[in-house]
Formats: sequence, structure tokens, C-alpha cells
Amino acid sequence: MTLQDLMLAPLRVEDSGLALRVRKGLLSLGYTGEAVGAALAGFRQSGLGYESLGDHLVPATPLACLMRAFVLGVPTAEEAMRQQVGNDFFALCETAGLWTRVDGGVVGTVVIMVDGKTFLLSDHGNARLGELAMYWVMGIGTSTMKLACSVHQRPYERVLDLCCGGGIHAYMVSPFAKQVVAVDRNPRALNLGRFGAAMNKFGNIEFRESDCYSAVAGEEFDAIICNPPYVLTPDRQTYYRDGGMGGDRFAEKILREAPGYLREGGFAYVMCDVASMDGASSEARLQAWLGEAGCDVVAVGAKAVDASTYARNWVRKDGDAVKPGEEKRWAESLRELGIASVTNMLIVLRKRTGASNWFRSETASIDVRVNYGAQVARRFVCQDVLQLDDGALLTTRLRVPADVRLSNTMRTDGGRWVAESSKITFVEGLQQEYSIDPQMAAGLAAFDGTKKAGDAMGKMRVGHLRHLIASAVLEPVGI
Ligand SMILES: C[S@@+](CC[C@H](N)C(=O)[O-])C[C@H]1O[C@@H](n2cnc3c(N)ncnc32)[C@H](O)[C@@H]1O
Repeated sequence: MTLQDLMLAPLRVEDSGLALRVRKGLLSLGYTGEAVGAALAGFRQSGLGYESLGDHLVPATPLACLMRAFVLGVPTAEEAMRQQVGNDFFALCETAGLWTRVDGGVVGTVVIMVDGKTFLLSDHGNARLGELAMYWVMGIGTSTMKLACSVHQRPYERVLDLCCGGGIHAYMVSPFAKQVVAVDRNPRALNLGRFGAAMNKFGNIEFRESDCYSAVAGEEFDAIICNPPYVLTPDRQTYYRDGGMGGDRFAEKILREAPGYLREGGFAYVMCDVASMDGASSEARLQAWLGEAGCDVVAVGAKAVDASTYARNWVRKDGDAVKPGEEKRWAESLRELGIASVTNMLIVLRKRTGASNWFRSETASIDVRVNYGAQVARRFVCQDVLQLDDGALLTTRLRVPADVRLSNTMRTDGGRWVAESSKITFVEGLQQEYSIDPQMAAGLAAFDGTKKAGDAMGKMRVGHLRHLIASAVLEPVGI
């Protein structure tokens, strides 16, 4: 595959009927989410390396041929491909720009992933470090999923997918939104995004080429979703990974400017890396960026990674293609900027101007198998209720959310079991654990949402009640 093959022959997007026929053809040939997922899962279980999957997927079935072309980027002899997928579908893909001819046969110009009923296009992994590197379109990464699962699934008027890549977040929110604007500076990403949107029949997504917010100047949205090029790299090598501004300045820019594109009450969801720098922690720097933004902020961080480990982890991802000395160069570039460690964070802003805004920061690990948008939304209502004075707080009805579990460690004492320690665990999405006083834990069951807090709290002190709300172990009802 050459740059020309991929860049100068973009997919045909003018005729959306073409993309729909590709979708229909793929499904009728058995290229479904279930079949592709099962083939990949079965292979992983076999213990063989992913890279050898191509040797095992012999081109004897349509699914095997299509997976070689659109998952693995492994060529299949044209004759075998035609035999399996049929001449009509072969010609359709050719017209759409989905095949390229290489030594040894034909191969897909893109990866086509299918999740449930949604198709997503991206570039093959083997093109990432070649000529195409700058324009490489990433597929579904961990950051993609963490962000996707954080967005509250509720109706929206206008949503901005900023740095949209192949458009996954636009696709995800499309069924909940009247209009979605998806922007990226990489024209190849927009081309794949448009083709995929047509395949999925997402008629409410408009793709625009844009440097950050430039193509949406003067517009407002009730949600912004952004997984920017967030990696802190020594220099720009790719659009998908490097913001090109040094350190975490690209993330800072996105976050500082987000309120200007939000409607009052609107939310921005941003997943990015924030550095601790010159003695200031990631949280402190984030707070400084957003202190005057007129927004309430929830920041959920993973564990901080020291600068050398950070450089090593990213250099290792580039595998064999890494130049000697790259790790040292990378680590030194971070040190020169005064960066001690880096924290991957989900940052959610809610625009609330003219008010006394709050900032909440916590650590959690994120389970990307479930949408945790409601948990994020809960942080906002909990923090809002904490702004009430004690009198008003005690008339609020509170309950223990459904994802909270309590475990007690018991010991014997005088012939009976007594609780020695207690632990609260959040079991879905944002996963956390807290130690809690066993007596306080026992009292939690009284908060069932029917009683005012003042009546449910028994001997608990208001300070403890506030602490439980701040930790989202208790949530207000009916607010
Ligand atoms: C980490 S990828 C995210 C892609 C996709 N949203 C996802 O989560 O899978 C970052 C994206 O930002 C885009 N990008 C880089 N610099 C940009 C800029 N200045 N303005 C707009 N988009 C940019 C890249 O082309 C890439 O598609």
C-alpha cells in the first residue's frame, strides 16, 4: 500500500447509496459483528499471535476473505476473493475505493470494524509507521472507549465530536441527538467518517474539516465530546497522537476554549493526559486552566505515571520501528519541560456562568464494558446538593445508588461476630473502593430515598453525611 493508493484515492462518498450497498453486501456475506467478534475471540483463545491470524484465515469462505481484507490487511489472490464474495460485490467495493491491489492479490484500503449494527472505518495498523503516518486514522482505542462510555445517554439538540477521527463518538451519540457536527483536521479521517456514516444511515452527522474549533466558530452545543491527540510527544509525527504544541498544551487549549462553544448547562467530555509540572500536580494545573472558565468540573484520573515510564510505554508501542535512542530523547523532552509525571484523565465540564463554580477530582479505574454516563451525571447532582446549607441538605431525600456494594470483615468477640472493618465498592463503570466506619456503613441502609436525610441519618453527623455525598455513596432523589 502506498500513500498515493490511500490518500489520493479516497473512498467514494458522494453517492451514499454505494455505502449502503456495501453494508448490505457485507452483512449478506456473513460479515456481522457477531461473526467477526467470534472469529477474533476464538483466535485469541487459541493462544496464537494476532499477526499469524492471516495464515489461519485461509481464503475458503467469504468471511475469511473479508476479514483478511478489512481486519488484518493481508492480501488474498483476486481470483479467490472474487470466488468467495462474488463479482458484483467485488466490483462494488472497487468502485467505492475499498480495494487496493498489492503483490499477492487484493487487500482492503481500510479496516472495517462492526460493533452490533454499527460499522466503523479506520486505517490498517501496518500503515501507521509508514508514509501515511501523519494521516493515519486510528480505530477503537482504549481512550476511545473510556470516553464513549462516559457520555450520558440522553436526548441532545446539538453535539460536537471534536477531533472525531473516523467518527466513532459521533456515531455513538447520533441516535440521541438532533444534530451532530464532527470535526477533524485530517481529511482522510473525515472521508472514512463520511463513508461509515452513510453505511450506518446516520443522516444527522455533518463532517467538517477544522483546526480545533475553527469550523464551528460562533456555534454552541449542548455537548462536546473530545478525544484529542493527547500523547505528550517530543515532536509531531502523526495527527492522531500528537497535538504538535508540546507537552499537554493541546489538551489545555481544547479545555480552555470549550466553554465558548457550550450552551448554558451544556457538558464537555474530554479524555486526555495532563502532566504534573514544575512542582504543580495535574489536578492543580487543571484547576488553574479552568478556574475562570464559568464551569463546574469533574476530573477522574487514573494513576499517575512517572515521565520515564511514560516515554518507555509509548516508545514500546511503536515496536520494531523505533529508532535507537528514541526512549531517551522522549524522556529528556519531558524533563526539559519540567514534567515529572503524567495522568490520564476524563475531564467533564458543565457550563454554569455567573455562579460559584466547584471542582471535583478523584481517582478511579474505568470499566469500558458499560456506559457510566449516569455515574458521571451523579457526581454533578451530588456536588450541587453539597452547595446547600445544612438545613436544606437535611430536608433532601437521599439513597444509596444501585452500583454500591458493602462488604464487612467480621471477627469474633465474646461469642458473636462483630464488624472489624467495612468497605464500599462501586461495581460498574467508574470502579472505586473506600474504607468506611462499620457503624456508619450499617446506618446507610436507612437511606432508601423515601425519607428526608435528617430522618434517615440517626446519630450520623452532618459532616459524615456530606462526606458520603461527596464520595457519591449517597445520591439525592428527585433533583
Ligand atoms: C486520539 S485521535 C481520536 C479519534 C477518535 N475521536 C477516537 O476517539 O477514536 C485524535 C484525533 O484528533 C485529530 N486532530 C489532531 N490535531 C487536530 C486539530 N488541530 N484539530 C482537529 N483535529 C485534530 C486527529 O486527526 C485524530 O483524528
